[in-house]
Amino acid sequence: MKIGIIGAGNIGGNLTRRLTALGHDVSVANSRGPQTLTALAEETGATPVTVGEAARGAEVVVVTVPLKAVPDLPSGLLDGAADGVAVIDTGNYYPQQRDGRIAAIEDGGLTESRWTSQQIGHPVVKAFNGTYAQDILDRHRPAGDPDRMALPVAGDDDAAKRVVRDLVDALGFDTVDAGGIDESWRQQPGTPVYGLQKGLDAVTEALAEASEERPADFRG
Ligand SMILES: NC(=O)c1ccc[n+]([C@@H]2O[C@H](COP(=O)([O-])OP(=O)(O)OC[C@H]3O[C@@H](n4cnc5c(N)ncnc54)[C@H](OP(=O)(O)O)[C@@H]3O)[C@@H](O)[C@H]2O)c1
Repeated sequence: MKIGIIGAGNIGGNLTRRLTALGHDVSVANSRGPQTLTALAEETGATPVTVGEAARGAEVVVVTVPLKAVPDLPSGLLDGAADGVAVIDTGNYYPQQRDGRIAAIEDGGLTESRWTSQQIGHPVVKAFNGTYAQDILDRHRPAGDPDRMALPVAGDDDAAKRVVRDLVDALGFDTVDAGGIDESWRQQPGTPVYGLQKGLDAVTEALAEASEERPADFRG
């Protein structure tokens, strides 16, 4: 598949590594420009591009920048993407440490991914947000392995969610359907599933145990 990755940090870099290893055609962008991504490109075979070029022809786009940077992404970010492009949002809201207060999330009651989808003007599928970046490299396992981790995946568009779940499976992780984007508070920071390194049953249970109330550590 042709995959565009916007953000080349902990998560974007490791997804670039694993998705190229699986044979996908990956373009990757950061804020400083493609000339700063030559080492990652040499290591992985990915194509460094500008943010505006990242989605061009892509069947999957991954938005993996700090939440506070989402409003800075160029408008028309997904113009030129393939029809039906699945957009993965890995984002988390860290008001105290990184992102500052976002009123639409805290007062408006939006889930973090609903806010991001409104900012970029496209539905998103929430995945990898509670996964340690290093686990993407180290903890993938073949299907059926007793130690295989499961990751929650939330989204409103069933076709896009299917594409993402299949991709996560190919990357070496089971998935649990975590419902729609308005329910994706179940996998936000501070919930039982966030950072959980367990299999299908434990992840399903953790999603069910989540409380919609935002924990104090994650309020601005
Ligand atoms: N770290 C983890 O283990 C982890 C796990 C799950 C989810 N997440 C979430 O995933 C998101 C990304 O986290 P991360 O740890 O990968 O972040 P990170 O290491 O800080 O990397 C952020 C990347 O986003 C790029 N970026 C920033 N502003 C941009 C802009 N306006 N346009 C284009 N690119 C921009 C940065 O480019 P420059 O370097 O050029 O500025 C950098 O490549 C966050 O919401 C985070 O909470 C992180």
